[in-house]
Amino acid sequence: MNILLSGKFEAAEHHDWLRSLRAALPEAHWLDREQALAQVDSVQVAVVANPPAGSLGGLPRLRLIQSLWAGVDRLLADPTLPAGVPIARMVDPAMNAAMAQTALWATLSLHRGFFENAVAQRAALWLPQTQRRADTLQVLVLGLGQMGQAAATCIARQGYRVHGFSLHPRSAAAAPAGIECHSDMDALFALLPLCHIVINLLPLTAATRGLLDAHFFARLPKGAAIVNLARGAHVVDADLLAALDRGQLRHAVLDVFHTEPLPVDHAFWAHPRVTVLPHVAALTDPASASLVVAQNVRALMSGRPLAHLVRPADGY
Ligand code: GLV
Repeated sequence: MNILLSGKFEAAEHHDWLRSLRAALPEAHWLDREQALAQVDSVQVAVVANPPAGSLGGLPRLRLIQSLWAGVDRLLADPTLPAGVPIARMVDPAMNAAMAQTALWATLSLHRGFFENAVAQRAALWLPQTQRRADTLQVLVLGLGQMGQAAATCIARQGYRVHGFSLHPRSAAAAPAGIECHSDMDALFALLPLCHIVINLLPLTAATRGLLDAHFFARLPKGAAIVNLARGAHVVDADLLAALDRGQLRHAVLDVFHTEPLPVDHAFWAHPRVTVLPHVAALTDPASASLVVAQNVRALMSGRPLAHLVRPADGY
């Protein structure tokens, strides 16, 4: 079985992926774009990590595009994407766990004032923070996909009051235990005045692009904090900076940006109330993700249902 592996990888990363994918699917031959083009009729599966636009064209027998990334916004934005070929997102338990850790770290640091302590240390300032009980803070997790659910559940376990927002209504049975779930934009905006910390894990779609804007920030209580672990384009940067500078927002933890790497002259870098991470909240783990790839490829080959399929009309 021939599989195209396409994406933006560093050399060492490419080597790690190939090793893990070969171990998980020893029956497959892994081709680069050039090799795939030399035998287009043999390629039924493409495994991709943000591939360059156009790299999935010209493969007439393609039956599955399996992303190594959880977010498929860039993939779906490729106008040359072959129509009608199923696309599967990466849903990797190791990645969900990493995302939950990052969300919990941000929540704890914001709640306990540890980011302020880090700034104070640079000025040799002894600055004890007031301490509130976790159950007096309300945390809103935007997006209740696999990562949102893992983050919300992990934070709720620490005693915070957690609300979740998903783009589609979920039945009571599908709601994560202990999380109050909302799905309507009006309900979301009605809830914002109660939320001290907002963690964004939404997919980037036409409905969510720019959601975190001046209007959104103004609904939050003064001194609330934002944690963006999803995509940079969810945030209107100028509105976020204005809300921070006015004191409407106390702090922002940002892992994702409109342009990555974040340009050196961007105001986020030096802002005392912004914590910048280099898109590392949850990296795909080659060993566990390769097992997910193998399961889906074997499902395709034996005619079983594919897992984690993207609904292109919804944009995720
Ligand atoms: C990372 O941002 C991903 O989508 O996997």
